Formats: sequence, structure tokens, C-alpha cells
Amino acid sequence: MSRTNMAALLVLGLLLVTAKQSTQMSLRNPSAEIETSNCKLPLHRVGLVLASDTNEKALLDSGLFTPDSDNPYVDHVGRRFNIGKLGSTHIVYVKTGTFSVNVATGVQTLLHKFTISKIVFFGNAGSLNKTYVPGTVLVPEAVAFTGVWEWEEFEAQNKGQLAFGHFNYPLNGENTLGTVAYENITLYSPSEDPKEVFWLPVPLPEEAATEELTKGLKLKECHSGRCQAEFATVYRSKASTSDFYVKNEAYGEFLVEKFTASTADSASAAVALTALSNEKPFVVIQGVSNVVGVDGSYPELASHNAFLVAAVFVESFPTQRLACE
Ligand SMILES: *[C@@H]1O[C@H](CO)[C@@H](O)[C@H](O)[C@H]1NC(C)=O
Ligand SMILES: *[C@@H]1O[C@H](CO)[C@@H](O)[C@H](O)[C@H]1NC(C)=O
Repeated sequence: MSRTNMAALLVLGLLLVTAKQSTQMSLRNPSAEIETSNCKLPLHRVGLVLASDTNEKALLDSGLFTPDSDNPYVDHVGRRFNIGKLGSTHIVYVKTGTFSVNVATGVQTLLHKFTISKIVFFGNAGSLNKTYVPGTVLVPEAVAFTGVWEWEEFEAQNKGQLAFGHFNYPLNGENTLGTVAYENITLYSPSEDPKEVFWLPVPLPEEAATEELTKGLKLKECHSGRCQAEFATVYRSKASTSDFYVKNEAYGEFLVEKFTASTADSASAAVALTALSNEKPFVVIQGVSNVVGVDGSYPELASHNAFLVAAVFVESFPTQRLACE
């Protein structure tokens, strides 16, 4: 038998086994499969979302995650949904993959397949403000997609916010790239008509009394042998998300000037849009891995500190166990 046939048979076999196992559980909600047999009510888990291997390593290295002993994971649309506890809170965590389409797909699948009380997202970001050095953690109150562009005609110098001529070197002037207008995005939701928005709000969960929670938190303060004074968690910043990696200082300054953004990343707005579309409470936590226009990148430090803050949030949410525990 050919290798392909063998593989096909193996897959078929696995499908049959899976199908058999799943007959007793809700097809719509496979998280039912992780409940004990004498408890039929679904457990509301916190959905912990991360995008990259570095983020996941921070989670696993912390030793705070305990996989469920019976059903440690479920695979859907190519992603692994890891089931267990973070401290004492029941969670499902998923590594979505990077950039907005992967992130949105991962979050939507999580919400579709599991009973999720809240989403906590943590990830790395570039800082646009030199006060926010690598290792700083920010919890934005609003995030926008700043990669949705409408390119305006060369002659229309005053049309878009980003005029390339303003960045000519050594002198400002005309530029055939013209200008770029930043577009809104449509926010769909079950209870309202679709609407055009630029800023996506990220409301902080009240029950967490969040700023108090992270006040005493000991974030890692050193990178590459250089140590900072104690890092604080910065609340109520504004964040920009796009599918391009922003390293250019002039563009970073533009984002600060036009949008008062403090960070640039490639995931947060995708989490926000998907969570808002599902009317699901969520938190965005960003660890600064680099400062735009400054040499040096510290992704491990950023992920470590962002995870520590995420863990405090997760553990502040009591598990909503409805009955029978
Ligand atoms: C950078 O952050 C500091 C500290 O929060 C703030 O005071 C300052 O206004 C920020 N700078 C810009 C350009 O936004
Ligand atoms: C984008 O949406 C905002 C409301 O969030 C609105 O004020 C603004 O006019 C819209 N801009 C465009 C270009 O449609």
C-alpha cells in the first residue's frame, strides 16, 4: 500500500474514533467533553489568547499552567486549544499565529468552540514613546487598525493624513506616492447595525479592580545585562495595529502625532474586533519588545512581563462554575 493510502486510512481511522467519542457530547460545544461525566453544565473558562512561540514559552516557563489530566487539548482548524488551569482559574489557551487574519481566526474559533467568559490577550509590541522601554507593559483603552489605507492621488496632497512628501530627504516637497487616508473598519455585532469605527474600545473589567492588582507585581527588570528602575504597568494607552512591522522612527512619530498611539503591533485590533463582534469582554496586554527607531529587541522579556500581567488578570476572574463541583 502506498504511503498516501496508509496516511488516508490512518486519518479515516482517527476520524472514526473521534466521531465515536463525540457522539455523547454536544457537537456545537466540544468543551463539554472536558466536563466530568456527572456534571453536564458547561464550565465558563477564560480564553487566554497569544500569537507567537515566544509568548507561549513565557506561559509554559512560568509553571503556572496545569494541563487538564483527562483532556489536555482539542485541535480545531489547525490550532491547538490547550485546556487546563492557570493558578486556580479554568482556562483554554490558544496560540493563534501572527498577523491579524490568523489572530482573528484563532479568537473566533475559540469563541465558537468553547464556553468562554472573558478573553485575555497578551503579546509583544513596539513602543512609539521612548519612556516605554523594553519590558514595560501597557494595557490600552483603545486600539485601531492603522494598516487600512486608501491611497490618494499624487495631486491630492491634502487628502490623506500621511503625506509622503513630508518625509522627503533632505527637504520636504512633492512625492509621487501622494498621500494615504486612514480608513475606518466595519464593526459587526449581533445587537446593533454594522457601524464604521476607527477606535475600538477596550474596556477594563471592573471586577478586577485592575490597577490595584498589578501595583505590587514584580516584573522582570533587566535585559542584556542592563537593568531599569522598576517597571510599572501603564493603563489607558492607545494602540495601533497593522500587518506591517513598524521599525521606522519617522513613521512611529507620525503614529504618535496623528493618533496619539503609544504602541504598534500586529494582533491587538484583531482580538478587539473579534471580541466586540461576539460581545465578549476582553483585555489587551502588551509587552514592549523594542522601541521604534532604537536598536535592540527583547521579545522574551516583553513576553515574560506581559504574561505576568495577563496571569494576574486571569487569576482575578473567578471560575464561573454553574453547578456540580
Ligand atoms: C510618552 O509617555 C510619557 C509617559 O506616559 C508621557 O508623559 C508623554 O506625553 C508621552 N509622549 C508622547 C509624545 O506621547
Ligand atoms: C470613521 O468613523 C468615525 C466614528 O468612529 C467618524 O467620526 C469618521 O467620520 C469616520 N471616517 C471616515 C473616513 O469614514
